[in-house]
Amino acid sequence: MCGIVGYVGKQKAAPILVDGLRRLEYRGYDSAGVAIIRDQAILTRKKKGKIDEGLARLLATDGVEGTIGIGHTRWATHGPPSDENSHPHLDQSGHVAVVHNGVIENYERLKERLVQKGHIFKSSTDTEVLAHLIGDHYERIKLPGAVDGQAGPGKELDSVLPHPLAQAVMNALKEVIGAYGIGVICADFPGVIIGARRGSPLIVGVGEGENFLASDANAIASHTRQVVYLNDYDVATLTPDKLSVTRLGSDKPNNVQISQLEYSGADAERGAYPHFMLKEIFEQPRTVENALRGRIEHDQATAKFGGLNMTMAELRAVDHIVIPACGTSWHAALIGEYLFEEFAHIPTEVEYASEFRYRNAPIEKHTLVMVITQSGETADTLASLREAKRKGHKVLAICNVVGSTIAREADGGIYLHAGPEIGVASTKAFTSQVTVLTLLALLMGRIRMLAANRGMQVIHALEALPQQLDSILTQNEAIKRIALKYAAAEDFFFLGRQYNFPAALEGALKLKEISYIHAEGYPAAEMKHGPIAMIDEKTPTVVVIPSDSIYEKTFSNLQEIKARKGPIIAIATEGNERILKEVNDVIFVPETLEPLFPLLAVLPLQLLAYHIAVARGCDVDKPRNLAKSVTVE
Ligand code: M6R
Repeated sequence: MCGIVGYVGKQKAAPILVDGLRRLEYRGYDSAGVAIIRDQAILTRKKKGKIDEGLARLLATDGVEGTIGIGHTRWATHGPPSDENSHPHLDQSGHVAVVHNGVIENYERLKERLVQKGHIFKSSTDTEVLAHLIGDHYERIKLPGAVDGQAGPGKELDSVLPHPLAQAVMNALKEVIGAYGIGVICADFPGVIIGARRGSPLIVGVGEGENFLASDANAIASHTRQVVYLNDYDVATLTPDKLSVTRLGSDKPNNVQISQLEYSGADAERGAYPHFMLKEIFEQPRTVENALRGRIEHDQATAKFGGLNMTMAELRAVDHIVIPACGTSWHAALIGEYLFEEFAHIPTEVEYASEFRYRNAPIEKHTLVMVITQSGETADTLASLREAKRKGHKVLAICNVVGSTIAREADGGIYLHAGPEIGVASTKAFTSQVTVLTLLALLMGRIRMLAANRGMQVIHALEALPQQLDSILTQNEAIKRIALKYAAAEDFFFLGRQYNFPAALEGALKLKEISYIHAEGYPAAEMKHGPIAMIDEKTPTVVVIPSDSIYEKTFSNLQEIKARKGPIIAIATEGNERILKEVNDVIFVPETLEPLFPLLAVLPLQLLAYHIAVARGCDVDKPRNLAKSVTVE
């Protein structure tokens, strides 16, 4: 949610900042802005709306030169999207500029105090209060002798450690309650950026004679692959040639550990696809392959993972699994619940992370807590992980973004290796999550009662997936034609049973988030307990109906819709000719094992949602009101 980018070096800052912001726009796109230091003054340019329609146009007519700056793309929390509420925000003197992700919870109290001191605010944001607070502390430090009795005003301050601007930031942050990832510059120091985080991700990109600050590696991956992941309470001081990191409350520098990014800037580009979402849908045969790579042990008919950090004995002792997650990751977790119970007979509960974190649920001793997250930064999922760890449980993470906060704080875990997911609607992460869950359930099953021949069946079915997914993608045009038939509908239902119930939920979520059509997913048999009242000839239902052990049951539910004249689109197994005359449209997917069917069924669901949204003129990659990676509660 929201994106931060900062640059200090020898190149012109504005193009680097704008390019970085474009790559971060999926994080928030209500407004965007930059602040650049030029001739010892801070110049800001900020505009409501998406970058190309707002900030980029403004800079084209009213550019700013300068080799240091910070930028921000916003998903509004305090105050509606407007030019005034856009970041960066300035302090009272106009010499300090701040960009901020997160929420300052006590901003009203801080603001009151500053107003009493004569501060005047131009926006309704919590961030402007933080800018004024930092500026206020900086003014005090600037007074001769104020920094450990050593410093005078102006540039002499530069030689003092910690840097006076960092000191002002630290003093201000000590007063702050809430979550933040911030970038700060000050006109007095045209070669220094301060970054600090608590609860919102922030990284430093290390270049040659230049350094970068970003909330997300995508912003800087085209400039450097050397990054430092900041931890909560870290305060980083960046100059073109130096980086030092101290902990809030300490004046001793930390050891800085440089990591290598797994991917380059090109991996996060759209290429020839009209949207990232379509690109990511089409990547799935390869991303599922990546999720499987190196993780199958054929001779033992099981799976293996490098990073679980649990012995076989510890895995064998697990007698309960709890999975907190949000959104699409929560849907993947629901499939995991069926998998762990069927393959390994381990009772499994899936929790909304936002509920789990406050619920104080009793967790038994041998419970494995496992969070699932694409971004590794979702605030509620992170809080669930911390809550479970606080109670003494081991927590595993299934995560896509390497080096993300959740990946670093978990006791062990499994990376998806799906590459950057930029489309706000999660697609390839879902199939990779379910693939990894299937492998983990296989491993948990094989150290319990799952027979080797059943294990081999699962392995063969998993290995067939990439080619089967490719074959579904060849139906894209046919799926588009079906989508266009129903693009004007205002309500949709998605139904499935067992493993395909979460697939139905995911199909409904995809459609509503990018097309704004009201869509609901249900277990197929649940319709008659109420929702069927909504069915009429204008309300289509998508039924996921594999030729499986409960086919006839799902088929009866389908008939109940048909009897009420509801149009039906079926996602069915190839070879089921019987269904053709029962429904209005069919999308066939290849035969697979029952537990793996949602992995195939979800592709047509994603494509249906995509083509309907495009037909309705929606901005598929940046749906209204949403942002990728929800780092606020
Ligand atoms: O990064 P996470 O997997 O933790 O994100 C969870 C949800 O915010 C995310 O899946 C969201 O629901 C997507 N927009 C769904 O497409």
